[in-house]
Amino acid sequence: MRAKTLAMAMVSSATAIAHANIALVKYWGKRNQPGNYPAVPSLSLTLDRLQTETQVAFDDQLSNDELLLGGVPADGKQLERVTRLLDAVRAKHGLHLRARVISRNNFPTASGLASSASGFAALALAATAAAAGDYSVPDVSALARAASASAARSVLGGWAQLDVGAEAAEPVEAAALDVALLIAVTDKGQKAVSSTAGMNLSSSTSPVYPTWLQQGPSLFLVAKQALRDGNFAALGQAMEQSTWLMHSTMLTTVPALIYLAPASLQIIKSVQTWRGSGIPAYFTTDAGPHVKVLTHPEHAADLKQRLLAIEGVLDVIVCAPGPAAAVTEQHNQAGCP
Ligand code: DP6
Repeated sequence: MRAKTLAMAMVSSATAIAHANIALVKYWGKRNQPGNYPAVPSLSLTLDRLQTETQVAFDDQLSNDELLLGGVPADGKQLERVTRLLDAVRAKHGLHLRARVISRNNFPTASGLASSASGFAALALAATAAAAGDYSVPDVSALARAASASAARSVLGGWAQLDVGAEAAEPVEAAALDVALLIAVTDKGQKAVSSTAGMNLSSSTSPVYPTWLQQGPSLFLVAKQALRDGNFAALGQAMEQSTWLMHSTMLTTVPALIYLAPASLQIIKSVQTWRGSGIPAYFTTDAGPHVKVLTHPEHAADLKQRLLAIEGVLDVIVCAPGPAAAVTEQHNQAGCP
């Protein structure tokens, strides 16, 4: 009887890898419409060193979706978000099978290192491959955006943009520009307020939010032009301006969203000093205390040592532009899903 059950079990699975991305021009705030559309355009760089690997297995033996994050079973809001994405795939295929999702990051989760970006990009791609569907890159990116807007950009490699109202992220035209992005890890703890909750609070309480909405599109255009021209300094300046405007919005949220730590500010001041002495380096930070430093690859080793010498810096990860999300394993059983 048991052998018969096993023989009849239907499993269709796929594994995908996606890399985190760091926004140079930031997304913070959603349009007032369903579907998780950003209120400002954003521009990012996908990174080679931070990745999520996710396996999705649709299995007729399951009665609920199951989620294993870094080897630990997850439920509540995390599982609900995953189920919502899976539901979108199931609805498209008239599929009723539940799925087992096994996901692993090679970096700290939910600490401002863009784990939701790589996580939902990998999940969207693995789920569509497991469902054996015919999805284009924009289709997968749109599915990822609906779950977490920054994830839309991680479906693409290198420079990516997500415009206001866009369904999916798109590649950004860029001149040859050699860049490295150093991540100064200052704290491995999880952030107190998630990006989703934080940006919703900012939009409803920060008096700076209207300015943020107004400035976002012009910073986006400046950064895009800088990339087209291969103008590193102009790109770095736009990135820092976007970072400060986003943090001004965060700090004037009620209650204030203080994602920066003392060590973050120390790094930022050091980057300014180093730049003053001729080193091409620009900083950005997100909804967490880590600071990311954009530079040219030939300065990466020197900057890494300088960053490690700052009190509170626990580690420095040197990243190069990373690849698009990719399916690494796929097994679609006949008749399943
Ligand atoms: C500060 O993409 O995590 O990293 O769409 O609600 O999931 P949701 O938000 P999320 O926000 C990322 C915010 C940011 C800036 C950015 O990546 O653009």
